[in-house]
Amino acid sequence: MKLDVIGFGALNLDRLYRVTRIAGAGEEGYITRDTESSGGSAANTIVGLARLGVNVGCIGKLARDREGRRLLRDLVKEKVNVNGVVVSEDGASGVVFCFVDEGGERTMYVRPGVNNELTHQEVDVDYGRNTQFLHLSSFISEKPFEAQQELLNACDDVHVSLDPGMYYATKGVQALRPILKWCYTVFPNEREVKLLTGEEYLKGARVLLREGAQIVAVKLGAKGCYVTDGVEEHLIDAYEAKVVDTTGAGDAFCAGFLYGLLKGKDLYTCGKLGNYVASRKIGIDGARDGLPNRSDLPSHLR
Ligand SMILES: Nc1ncnc2c1ncn2[C@@H]1O[C@H](COP(=O)(O)OP(=O)(O)OP(=O)(O)O)[C@@H](O)[C@H]1O
Ligand SMILES: [Mg+2]
Repeated sequence: MKLDVIGFGALNLDRLYRVTRIAGAGEEGYITRDTESSGGSAANTIVGLARLGVNVGCIGKLARDREGRRLLRDLVKEKVNVNGVVVSEDGASGVVFCFVDEGGERTMYVRPGVNNELTHQEVDVDYGRNTQFLHLSSFISEKPFEAQQELLNACDDVHVSLDPGMYYATKGVQALRPILKWCYTVFPNEREVKLLTGEEYLKGARVLLREGAQIVAVKLGAKGCYVTDGVEEHLIDAYEAKVVDTTGAGDAFCAGFLYGLLKGKDLYTCGKLGNYVASRKIGIDGARDGLPNRSDLPSHLR
C-alpha cells in the first residue's frame, strides 16, 4: 500500500535535564528533574501526522540498545510503518542531551551514534518512493546526507519537503542544492532562513523559491509563520497558547502544514494548520505528548 508521508532524518532519544543553571567551563549546576522521550525532527513530524490519521512511514537508523528499542516501540505505538528503519547490530542509538535552566534557556549536546553511519545502500529505494510525500530533516554527518540525495535522485513522483534545522541551514544554499532542487516545500525557521540564504525571511523565501521550491513556510516562533508560493504570501499570526515547552514546535508545525497539503487545503489554511498543531504541542511537555488528534482540530481546519 502506498503511504501518504515518509519521514527521513536522524532518530534520537531526547534526554531532558531541568537544571538550576547552565554551567560554564569549570562551573557546577544541579539537575532538579530529568525525563526521557522519543524524538528526532522528521520522526516527530510523522508522529504528528499519524495522530491526524495519516498513513506514515519512517526511514532512519538506530541500534539494538535500550534507546533504540524505545525509539522503535514508540513509533510502532503511534502506528508508524517502520519497514524503512535500519537496526544496527552494534553501535549506539542517537541521543540528545538537553539542559534547560529555570529561565527556559537551553543547551544541547548530541550523541549521533549510528545515525551517522546510515549509508545509501541501506536505504530501500522502493520503500522510499512508495509515498506521496517524503519529509526530510537533518543528519550531522555526510554519509546519511548523501543517502538522502541518492534517494531523492530516484524519487520522481514524490513531493519532497525539508525541515533543514540548524545543521543543514548552516551548510548554506549551495551545499544544500542537491536536496533543495527536489523540494516542493521548505520549512526553515527565521534563523535558519537567514543562515541558508544570508537574507531576512521575506527575501530569503524568494531565494528558496528560485532554488526550486514551490512553497516556503517560515516558522516565526510566537509571531506565527510566513508562507508563500511566489504568487500568494501570508503572514499568519500564531494561536494564543500557554507556553510550557517549545521542544518540537517546529516539527509539529510541519505536521499540521503537510496535513493541509495532503487534504488539498489552500496555502493560507495550511499555514493556519501548522500554527494550530504547533500551539497544541507547546502547551504540554515533550516533543510529542501535546500533538493533537484529528478530532481535536477545529472543524474548519479538518
Ligand atoms: N509562544 C508561542 N505561541 C504560539 N505559537 C507558537 C509560540 N512559539 C512557537 N509557536 C508556533 O510554533 C511554530 C514553530 O515554532 P518555531 O518558529 O520556534 O520553530 P522551530 O524553531 O523550528 O522549533 P523547534 O524548536 O521545534 O525546532 C511557530 O510557527 C508557531 O506556529
Ligand atoms: Mg526547527
